[in-house]
Amino acid sequence: MELREVIGNRRSIRYLDPDKPVEIEKIQRMLEAARIASHFGNNSSIQALVVHRESATEEQVESLHSPVGGFQMNLAPVIILWYVHTAAMDEAGERLRELVQCGALGYGPNKHKELEETLVPLFNRIGDALKGPGMPDMDLGQAVAQSTLIAFEQGLGTCCQGSGDWTKVEAAFGFKEGDRIVVAQTVGYPLETADAGGQRPRLPFENLFQLNSIDNPFPRSQEVVNELTGDKFFQAPAPTPNREQEIDEIAKKYKLPGSGMI
Ligand SMILES: Cc1cc2nc3c(=O)[nH]c(=O)nc-3n(C[C@H](O)[C@H](O)[C@H](O)COP(=O)(O)O)c2cc1C
Repeated sequence: MELREVIGNRRSIRYLDPDKPVEIEKIQRMLEAARIASHFGNNSSIQALVVHRESATEEQVESLHSPVGGFQMNLAPVIILWYVHTAAMDEAGERLRELVQCGALGYGPNKHKELEETLVPLFNRIGDALKGPGMPDMDLGQAVAQSTLIAFEQGLGTCCQGSGDWTKVEAAFGFKEGDRIVVAQTVGYPLETADAGGQRPRLPFENLFQLNSIDNPFPRSQEVVNELTGDKFFQAPAPTPNREQEIDEIAKKYKLPGSGMI
């Protein structure tokens, strides 16, 4: 599948087959994609703890349940806990030096000196502030996005999950002080049909993007839209015919509560 098709077909998949194990190699590919995602200052603060639900303890699985995750945690054979290892920010200077060393950053004969006099002191000064929500969460989002696309390309489904109480999850899995979970990602083989009920609604393009001035919508070219449509980037809008019936049948088979919503 071409990249455009992968991006266009990706959906949050909430109905995962609880009885079909996920090959560990497929999870590794997801993690490899996360590792090479972009990080600010190349800080590499994004880490992940992979939970194999079947071999996790009862207390660990129980800690994952939340009002927003609902039945999904019960179905998913694998749950990835994506977190920020904030201590990584203490080595920000070292990461910047590596960037200069490898030719990604800085140029000219004084590049090392300039780095030591500008960026390194700056990162050292604001290092603690950078540990809080903000830039590292952005990095985490990029890592999860890349790993999601690789998951999808391998035939897997995923859905990001929040939690009412990450501290409970962190305690159950033995997280260290300073490590903070941002999101849990359920992973497994979809029970749903490939289109997962079609493209979920989005606000109009014109409402979201601007050019030069905040009042000036970014011009959307129909030609580009047509090109992307030809590349299977855009899919039929949700809900596709029979979606409701499909979900009802899954909910019945796996004894999910009500319509399967929570
Ligand atoms: C950071 C993040 C957290 C999310 N948390 C939840 C969640 O707790 N429960 C859930 O069912 N879906 C969750 N989602 C999925 C979104 O609701 C989903 O993106 C939305 O329904 C649009 O569907 P799509 O991803 O298929 O386009 C989350 C998505 C993101 C990016």
